[in-house]
Amino acid sequence: MTSAIYPGSFDPVTFGHIDIIKRASKLFDSLTVSVLDNKAKSALFSADDRVKMLHEVCSDIPNVRVDSFSGLLVDYVRENSFDVVIRGLRAITDFEYELQMAQTNRKLLLQADTVFLTTSLEYAYLSSTTVREVAAFGGDISLFVPDSVAKEVYEKFSKQNGEKNGGKD
Ligand code: PNS
Repeated sequence: MTSAIYPGSFDPVTFGHIDIIKRASKLFDSLTVSVLDNKAKSALFSADDRVKMLHEVCSDIPNVRVDSFSGLLVDYVRENSFDVVIRGLRAITDFEYELQMAQTNRKLLLQADTVFLTTSLEYAYLSSTTVREVAAFGGDISLFVPDSVAKEVYEKFSKQNGEKNGGKD
């Protein structure tokens, strides 16, 4: 039984992530999608909210579970005896950082082997950063994220804008 983990920020989860999740779930017996809960880095959504959104979009994939972790990935891999770390590669620009991360993780823990899946071409341009940026200016993100996620993103920005205006409008 081979268990894989797909770690990431997922702030928010996009169709690109979902594509990787679906394809990885077919390659391994079980797949854990895990959100990095990094208190030092400011994210649009809390780790709990990101886990909730992932739960919703992965509910129809039988061998996928959703979790969160903090600290070093290798510690989480060791504690849960994962066999493989999954990462998506969109373009050559991802490669340098991903290679460095995979090699560091393997140096820290021999068991932490990384398998890269190339992102499907239709999502090669897509990132959570782009989604946040488009939504922040009121743009249409329906091509980038599922409806349930888009709703949460718009609600989050509308709440933030309301707070900025001090409830004056
Ligand atoms: O979706 P992201 O932001 O590209 O995911 C990056 C992630 C969460 C996989 C990476 O930052 C990570 O594993 N962080 C945990 C801390 C850690 O182990 N750092 C050492 C890796 S070089």
